[in-house]
Amino acid sequence: MARICGKDCEARIEMNIKKVGVLGCGLMGSGIAQVCASAGFDVTVLEVEQKYLDKGFAGIDKSLAKFAERPVEKGGITPQQRDEIRSRLRGTTKREDLADCDIVIEAIIENVEEKKKMYASIDAIIKKDAIFASNTSSISVTELLTAVKRPERFIGLHFFNPVPLMKLVEVVKTIATAPEVYDAAYEFAKKLGKVPVRTSDKTGFIVNRLLVPYLLDAIRAYEEGVGSIEDIDNAMKLGCGYPMGPFTLLDFVGLDTTYYITHVMYDEFKERRFASPPLLKRLVMAGWYGKKSGRGFYDYANPEKPVAGKF
Ligand code: 3HC
Repeated sequence: MARICGKDCEARIEMNIKKVGVLGCGLMGSGIAQVCASAGFDVTVLEVEQKYLDKGFAGIDKSLAKFAERPVEKGGITPQQRDEIRSRLRGTTKREDLADCDIVIEAIIENVEEKKKMYASIDAIIKKDAIFASNTSSISVTELLTAVKRPERFIGLHFFNPVPLMKLVEVVKTIATAPEVYDAAYEFAKKLGKVPVRTSDKTGFIVNRLLVPYLLDAIRAYEEGVGSIEDIDNAMKLGCGYPMGPFTLLDFVGLDTTYYITHVMYDEFKERRFASPPLLKRLVMAGWYGKKSGRGFYDYANPEKPVAGKF
């Protein structure tokens, strides 16, 4: 799958991508917008209502404030850099404002129909040689590209949460993606300061293909009485050096999101390892989506001291 992109090619790509459009200003969209602006790109973020932009930009301000507190030699930024990054970010509720973007990265709700509707509605607005990218974690990129009239300019760019900190971007090739579009997106990910990995459009790509069965197995182990939520988390953190135990990570990613991913993955592979355990379904039915809703496998009434549930 490896492709060669020499100095000339990199220069051409650099020239081509200057303005970035981000669709959606939620957790992932706002994070993607932040890293693009931090890398020097002008960014326009589209949302359906101003209140979602306000919420997303408040998250960006919080994250930039954390970077500004850190010494520059440890990856921090100066107050002046923070202001420059902020000045490169613009929110809008009008699709027309994306017209001059060189790449448009979609990070709206993880729902096939909603995503296709969004792409179809901007296809005629976005300039002809722009790249369409989706941050989908589980939906087939090939299915999404059917919504636009230029499938060869369509690609997956899968970022990880929290986007400003996680170094990885999965660059997802479909059978329709033009090689030069793939190279441009790969170089773009590098320009963001990320480490891109090459993968193809198979559900879950690399990370979720391996991560999701692990997370679901942790729930099954708990259901079978192998250990408590806290003990399983501690075991994986302290025994394997993972930054978060599986239940903390599940709450962090969102149980609704994970539950949705299990459906798409199970539908593709029809293997038990991708099927949702009953407890995950019950928590989602109860509206306990994890950290964002205040309760999941842990109760976050006191966010500094989450309390593990007993189910
Ligand atoms: N922006 C800027 N800085 C941030 C930040 C943010 N959003 N969040 C945390 N930080 C900073 C903190 O201020 C702290 O800075 P300091 O060292 O200068 O004090 C530093 O990052 C470390 O934060 P914490 O001490 O709060 O916590 P940790 O040391 O545990 O690090 C973490 C946080 C990087 C999130 C780490 O726990 C981690 O790597 N967790 C695993 C995350 C993961 O696996 N993500 C992938 C999820 S899967 C996914 O996204 C795919 C999807 O498709 C499901």
